[in-house]
Amino acid sequence: TRFDGLPDALLDWYGRHARTLPWRIGPGERGRGIVPDPYRVWLAEIMLQQTTVPHAAGYFETFTRTWPTVEALASAADEDVMAAWAGLGYYARARNLLKCAREVAARGDWPRTEAGLRELPGIGPYTAGAVAALAFNRRSAAVDGNVDRVFARLLATQGEWKDEKRRIAHIVRDLVPEDRPGEFAEALMDLGATVCTPKRPNCLICPIRTWCTAYAEGEPERYPVKPAK
Ligand code: ADE
Repeated sequence: TRFDGLPDALLDWYGRHARTLPWRIGPGERGRGIVPDPYRVWLAEIMLQQTTVPHAAGYFETFTRTWPTVEALASAADEDVMAAWAGLGYYARARNLLKCAREVAARGDWPRTEAGLRELPGIGPYTAGAVAALAFNRRSAAVDGNVDRVFARLLATQGEWKDEKRRIAHIVRDLVPEDRPGEFAEALMDLGATVCTPKRPNCLICPIRTWCTAYAEGEPERYPVKPAK
């Protein structure tokens, strides 16, 4: 069907071009039974809702050095965490971060499903999907603005952007490979961040351009088409 072969092509590319990021494990490692630390995955996702990868990286290092586990963060004084968060902005997020850490510490462990994660403070649909896929290898989709853009181009979406996003979420979820959901999520993030960029996407190095309608049309930057507000 429409996207046959796309997940394999994307994962193959990811194996060769994965970004090295402090909250990740290497793309070859998952296959050898190594899994990323859910605490680090979650912390990175919360920070990345707020800021860019380069800006988050320094905060991530400080947080994980000061509080290496969710239990350590749960036991921290509120004012120390708020002070460490300074510069990331939107302090409600830091308050929810602490609430969430304390709830996980009280439960004794992380919920391992998307639905379970969704019940924690500060974890919305995107973060639940991302953590479930990245840390627990669940077949959930982590669809953020970058992934929406990639699929808007693949499909050359023309409809209402709200409807198209719903359609994209379903399509992505159906494409998640049984055995490698975490890597699939990371691969899509990397493709959106480094190849299928908002401006001047680098289609010539794109591993999935053969599936891409926007590329075939010759004007990938036109997508996504969003309504004027
Ligand atoms: N953007 C959102 N989550 C991310 C992650 N885990 N790694 C890189 N970029 C991201």
